[in-house]
Amino acid sequence: MDKFVIHGGRPLKGAIRIHGSKNAALPMMAASLLLPRGERLVLRNVPDLADVRTMAKLLVELGVHVERGGARLTLTVEDDRPVRAPYEIVKTMRASICVLGPLLARRGEAQVSFPGGCAIGSRPVDLHLKGLARLHARLAVRNGYILARGAKLRGGTVYLGGTFGSTVTGTDNILMAAVLAKGRTVIEHAAQEPEVQELAHLLNHMGARIDGIGNHRLIVHGVERLHGAEKTVIPDRIEAGTFMAAAAITGGDVTVENVRAEDLTVVLETLRQMGVRLEAGTYTVRVNAKGLRRAEPVDITSLPYPGFPTDLQAQFMAILTRAKGISVVTERIYPDRFTHAAELSRMGAEIRKQESTAIIHGVAKLSGAPVMASDLRAGAGLVVAGLAARGRTEVLRVYHIDRGYDRLEERLSSLGANIRRAKEIAPASSSPAAATA
Ligand code: EPZ
Repeated sequence: MDKFVIHGGRPLKGAIRIHGSKNAALPMMAASLLLPRGERLVLRNVPDLADVRTMAKLLVELGVHVERGGARLTLTVEDDRPVRAPYEIVKTMRASICVLGPLLARRGEAQVSFPGGCAIGSRPVDLHLKGLARLHARLAVRNGYILARGAKLRGGTVYLGGTFGSTVTGTDNILMAAVLAKGRTVIEHAAQEPEVQELAHLLNHMGARIDGIGNHRLIVHGVERLHGAEKTVIPDRIEAGTFMAAAAITGGDVTVENVRAEDLTVVLETLRQMGVRLEAGTYTVRVNAKGLRRAEPVDITSLPYPGFPTDLQAQFMAILTRAKGISVVTERIYPDRFTHAAELSRMGAEIRKQESTAIIHGVAKLSGAPVMASDLRAGAGLVVAGLAARGRTEVLRVYHIDRGYDRLEERLSSLGANIRRAKEIAPASSSPAAATA
């Protein structure tokens, strides 16, 4: 297993180009299952990530030929009979659930391993199943699999509002099921994330008829069949926000390129409130924190889009551990998404957790320490903290971070960070101390 070794304290400088969005690319790849045999989908600006490779592996299992050329993916349906998404693949990536809707709509059946919980919470899929039932699918859960049948789905009204707001991949699944359903579907309380909007635009390129893209209410007029298309994946707003957090916490001056500022309005506003100077162009954002030794304290509440993204909560909490005062971070999407807080405390942060809120007393300095990434974004938050901490930080279990960031250490090094990838040495004895030797 790999780890990152970071020596903090260097202000980041220069320009960084943002890659395509993981959370846009994954459901767009799954949309290839909606195509008849022989039709192909071409996606450009696809990031080179572990999760993208996992989705490709799953699609191959489901009869899709996947060809990669640089950041271009060509997906051609060769066999439209397979309907099973096996546990072995689904257990490694929850986004695999996005094959459920398209398989059901196009092949009339789907057997998808039930995605279990993960480090950030229980993450049920009840809204996905209720939604598909509203399109007249027959559903059951047996032996760890969601079994869905529906020779011809029929349109209906689907409500996707849950305890924590709407559901992103739930909206993706219902959209991909409804585009081939007979008649009209109204999706109420649909997710509005840019990644969901991109999927809807792609489906319309493939011949679907979706109205109201970007709103909470989506209208889908079912069509008989779809055809191949080409589309470029939007930039990754979460990757962009992560580099902005790294620039802010190190007092750096970084220009983030190939980013859509309009996707990050609340994030940019939060940085301004922290005292960071920003120059936003259409596809670039200059993050200038030169001379900003400690950020202003701010309160952050994660919410569905266009609210503050939960996937940047850990990275911005890292900045607030060194703020000039008290900040309150409230997690409204995944109430338990605070595994990074305990690790940040190992670096000297003062964080008190109360249910789904963390109260952060800013400290003047963080000190380097061995810390453990429990999931993708928690890991990114620990890297951001390590870039500002005095001394040596080791971030263990980097495989979590590789799922959503392509060669993060090389790209941070290109901005002047002292970070490298190293092998975690398997402990000779069971004592934890041996592991970090
Ligand atoms: C997507 O997950 C993203 N993943 C997540 O990013 C992101 O954290 C999340 O949306 C929220 O923005 C992808 O796009 C691949 P949800 P998703 O369904 O679709 C509850 C990352 O780091 N809920 O919108 O799985 C759920 O438990 C990942 O890149 C139900 O109760 O999230 C959560 O509390 C992590 N029932 C809330 O809704 C359901 O049927 C939002 O979940 C579905 C969801």
